[in-house]
Amino acid sequence: MASKGSQHVFVTVICLGLLFGVAIGARKGPVHRGRRSNVDSDGTCKSRVEIFGYQCEEHKVTTQDGYILSLQRIPVGRSGGSPSGGPPVLLQHGVLMDGITWLLNAPDESLAFILADNGYDVWIANTRGTKWSRGHVWLSTNDSVFQAYWDWSWDELVAYDLPATLAYVHDQTAQKIHYVGHSLGTLIALASFSKLQLLDIVSSAALLSPIAYLEDVSSPIAQAAAKSFAAEVNKLLKELCSQPGIDCYDLMTAFTGENCCLNSSTVDVFLQYEPQSTSTKNMIHLAQMIRDGTIAMYDYGDNDDNQKHYGQPTPPAYDMSSIPDDLPLFFGYGGSDALSVPEDVELLLGNLKSHQADKLVVQYRDDYAHADFVMAVNASEVVYDPLMAFFKLQ
Ligand SMILES: *[C@@H]1O[C@H](CO)[C@@H](O)[C@H](O)[C@H]1NC(C)=O
Ligand SMILES: *[C@@H]1O[C@H](CO)[C@@H](O)[C@H](O)[C@H]1NC(C)=O
Ligand SMILES: *[C@@H]1O[C@H](CO)[C@@H](O)[C@H](O)[C@H]1NC(C)=O
Repeated sequence: MASKGSQHVFVTVICLGLLFGVAIGARKGPVHRGRRSNVDSDGTCKSRVEIFGYQCEEHKVTTQDGYILSLQRIPVGRSGGSPSGGPPVLLQHGVLMDGITWLLNAPDESLAFILADNGYDVWIANTRGTKWSRGHVWLSTNDSVFQAYWDWSWDELVAYDLPATLAYVHDQTAQKIHYVGHSLGTLIALASFSKLQLLDIVSSAALLSPIAYLEDVSSPIAQAAAKSFAAEVNKLLKELCSQPGIDCYDLMTAFTGENCCLNSSTVDVFLQYEPQSTSTKNMIHLAQMIRDGTIAMYDYGDNDDNQKHYGQPTPPAYDMSSIPDDLPLFFGYGGSDALSVPEDVELLLGNLKSHQADKLVVQYRDDYAHADFVMAVNASEVVYDPLMAFFKLQ
């Protein structure tokens, strides 16, 4: 288990990421790029995959709006051999994280390696703005005047990043793709499916710590941040620490819920690579969802601006009940998760009432919280075995 000490640092870094974004107050700025100097500078393959004896390929994909994203591929398991053309799986991380999400534990505990060892062709996505996906065809992350590079929220991940990444994997493998998302990686997939996008190239989706409705987010940190997004950092810190339920010395638990099963070594690895940058606009968009309890596009804040962007005075909603009833879906959620809280997941499942029973697997773990789904020492038995059993059925 993680020592209390490492958990404090873990949380503090996560929260500083959040708070720093709040502090800039700019609508478009990057949220934080917390980085220790000892992180390898030569890519995820070298630092987190090849060291364990796996083959790894670095790929690049360019989105329609010019972002250049990195993808890592682990084509075969530890025993090697030639790529067998196994079923492709795309792993999509959440907000303030990157593809290393899936590579934090030892090989027999980390989903990316476990899938490769079970014959899957594993592809790891990294969304725009994260360390290895900061390229752009015509914009620079350094353009401090307009910060055009950072002018996006998760709507753009739905419209550009996810389709470009999946299309690339489909082109490379000529097979339909299994999808695994964690946290924001679940929302962008659900939003795409609700618009009937990507259904021709996705064969099934496993959604871990799903977020769609954020109405009941019980994380006092996220709640407080959502309420006072424009506040200056000092004011916000004071406010956060005065909220009932927040012990400022135990912020990780306050932010993600109480993770049951983390190894302190994993937390150290996490701290070496995460958190990652995202745009302030993306964090504001998430805060709007916590505040309003809706799943809608980014709200520009007044009718005229929304009219200009959307041709209507309010942001268009994503309708989760439009997700096709025959799309194979696996949900994994935890009773201790303060961000993907059971009430909100159940609200989402309520939208899927007409889903075909044999196409929907729902797995609830009472003791799991947000980070457990990707970092727990026993996620392999608790989550990944059932997840692979689900893939096999498709
Ligand atoms: C942006 O600035 C950083 C640090 O000042 C520099 O290392 C990097 O090369 C710059 N990137 C571009 C695209 O100019
Ligand atoms: C997972 O590990 C935790 C902590 O060691 C333990 O309490 C829990 O019972 C384990 N769950 C399963 C299903 O093995
Ligand atoms: C925690 O991680 C370390 C380093 O990878 C490993 O040696 C140890 O066995 C792990 N503990 C558990 C309970 O998995």
